Order: sequence, then structure tokens, then C-alpha cells
Amino acid sequence: MWSLRVPALLISATLTASSAVLQLQGDNFQSHLETHSPVLVNCSEPCRNLKPEFEAAAEVLKKRDIACISIDCSLENKTCIANHITSYPTIRIFHGPEKFTRYRNERKAPNIISYMIRDSLPLVLEVTTDNIEEVLLMGTSTLIAYIDEDDQKSRSVFTSFAEAHQNEFIYGITSNLTLAKSNVQKAPFVIVYSPLDQVNPIFKDTFSLDKLEAFANKYSTPLIGTFSLETYYAYTEALPPSSPCTPSDHSSLLSLLKPIAEKHKSKLNFATIDATKYRFFAKALNLATDKFPAFVIEDTVSGDTAPFDQDEEVTGQKIEGFVQKYFELRGKGNVPVQTAVSFPFGMETLTDHCM
Ligand SMILES: *[C@@H]1O[C@H](CO)[C@@H](O)[C@H](O)[C@H]1NC(C)=O
Ligand SMILES: *[C@@H]1O[C@H](CO)[C@@H](O)[C@H](O)[C@H]1NC(C)=O
Ligand SMILES: *[C@@H]1O[C@H](CO)[C@@H](O)[C@H](O)[C@H]1NC(C)=O
Repeated sequence: MWSLRVPALLISATLTASSAVLQLQGDNFQSHLETHSPVLVNCSEPCRNLKPEFEAAAEVLKKRDIACISIDCSLENKTCIANHITSYPTIRIFHGPEKFTRYRNERKAPNIISYMIRDSLPLVLEVTTDNIEEVLLMGTSTLIAYIDEDDQKSRSVFTSFAEAHQNEFIYGITSNLTLAKSNVQKAPFVIVYSPLDQVNPIFKDTFSLDKLEAFANKYSTPLIGTFSLETYYAYTEALPPSSPCTPSDHSSLLSLLKPIAEKHKSKLNFATIDATKYRFFAKALNLATDKFPAFVIEDTVSGDTAPFDQDEEVTGQKIEGFVQKYFELRGKGNVPVQTAVSFPFGMETLTDHCM
């Protein structure tokens, strides 16, 4: 089980005194990270759109002892550099001073709020008549285990499974079989809920880690809320084949990318993503959300992105030139360097947003 964490919220220099966002500087910031986690951070230059959303989220999260912190990287560049923060505005969630994740959901107050609340909740949620709807809305893939109260063995197998796959799914447990609305009458069983699935697959086999893993791999897609590029890559693979890209658009993009992908195979992973369904993710990658196809290189470790100019025509030659230039600049250290120094090139992914 996840323990309940006490998170912290910071205010930026430009915020009013009445804001729920805390303003911290340098040393202050570091010591805050020591004692409060997770921490929602806004390390940024002025960002007109995000500010009111962030403040609204802070207001709500404050009531749950989740603190939001804002730090101005133009004033605090040492702190930002120390934390490998190189693109603005960005939201990081700190779990102690060393460990953070990058917030990738839509940058709207309700999204920030639900993400942070989820993050502060136990890993396996006790599901009841009252909260089942809410639990099912928390992520794109939810596993609910229906297990009798006294079946400790199955409960502990399910909890171990959840611990081993913390960021992949939302987990719930209940002994109320009525909530399953299924024909299965005999606990234990697990149902996968996902908005992408028309039917909810049911696991009825004997509970074991191996069997649950095989089942989850087959029937569920990773949780979007916390995805890294790797999980989101897996996610795109798990998407139903129907894509709003017309087949010819998509395949011409793929054939355009293929030689480039082959050439840079050792350094870049290529992925495509559906720009209609996952438009918000384009935004998280610093792309405008109204011009597709678009390309971006992301360092999946630091979260830094290098978007291909969306006003440019997308041709194989231009993409190839863009990729070359990216590596050249990184080699010279002119591109956000922390990442180039500390992390292998193999982690980047070239993404094609296709529409
Ligand atoms: C983030 O920090 C910058 C710089 O202090 C500030 O201008 C901006 O309003 C902050 N954004 C939010 C959402 O707090
Ligand atoms: C950090 O700020 C100092 C003082 O304003 C400036 O001289 C330095 O170039 C900045 N470093 C970076 C990497 O922006
Ligand atoms: C089980 O769920 C059903 C359907 O929501 C509800 O009517 C019933 O009261 C629940 N039973 C218990 C013991 O909570």
C-alpha cells in the first residue's frame, strides 16, 4: 500500500499574498522538498494560462494538505538547474528531494487536482457503492478485485501485484460482488475497466502474480495520468487499430519516417500517437495543438522536448535535418545539457502526431 503523504505547495513571486500557492526560494525550496512530499512545482517564466489554473488547484488541494509550490527559474536558476528543470513552464511532482515525476496531464485545475489527489491516496482503494463511480473515473485503466472479506490470501496477492505495477493502473478492492454488475457469482475475480474497451474483461483464474500479470498485459492499457514515454509508447501499441488518421496519411507518414528511424535506431525510438484522442499530450510536449502532423523529440528522462517547427512542411528531408541538428547541438552542449550528460541517448523518442 502507498502511505499517505503530506505534500506541499509553493507560491511564485508574482502571486498575491492570499494565494494558496507558496513561494519558495533556493535553500528554502530544497529544504521544503526534504520535508514535504509530493510537491507540485511550477518552475517557470510568466505563464498567463497556467497561473489561474494552478492557483485554483492549489486552493482546493490546500484543504487536503497538498501543497503547491511555484518557483521562478529566471530568479532561481541554480535551483532549477540542480533539479534538471530546463523547459518552462513545467510542473513536477516531488516525492522527496531526489525523486520526481513530470506532470503530463492537461494543465487545467480539475486535472491537476484529480491527479494530485490520486497521488496522495492509498495504492489500493477500498471500493464502495459511494465511490465506485469516482474510482472508475480516476484513470484509463482500473482493476477492481472482488474478494471476500476473509480471503486474506487473494487480497495479499492482489496488493503485491499493485505494488509491483504502481503507476500502471488504478487499483480497487471490494467484497461487495453486486458492484461488479456481472454474471460472475463467485469471488475472487478481477475486472478491468477501461474507457477504450466495450466489454470489461474478467479474471477468474486462481490468484497468482504471474497469472494476474499475464491477464493485465493482455487486457489493459497503462494509465495515462502518469505515463512516461515508455508507458505511453506501450499505450499507443495497445490502442485499437481504428485510427482517425486516414490510412493513407498515416502510412505516408510512416514511410517517410521509416528510413530516418532505421538510421538513428541506436539513439532514437520512434512512436506515433493519435492526435485527435491525445491532443492534450501534444500540449504537454510543447506542441501547438492545432497543427498536425507534428514531430517532437523528447528526452524521456528529463522531459525536455525539441519540437520540429510546426509551420514547416513535413518532409523526410526536413525531419532528417532536424534530427541531425538535434544531435549536433547536443554534442556541442548547446541544448539543455544536464540531460545529455547524465542520460543515454537511447531514451529519446521521436513522436509523430498524426491526424
Ligand atoms: C509560475 O512562475 C512564474 C514565475 O514566477 C509566474 O509568473 C507564473 O505565474 C507561475 N505560474 C503559476 C501557474 O503559478
Ligand atoms: C543564472 O543566472 C545568472 C545570474 O542572473 C546568470 O549569469 C547565468 O547565466 C544564469 N545561468 C543560466 C544557465 O541561465
Ligand atoms: C453492495 O452494492 C450494492 C449496489 O451498489 C448496494 O445496493 C449494497 O448496499 C452494497 N452492499 C453493501 C453491504 O455495502
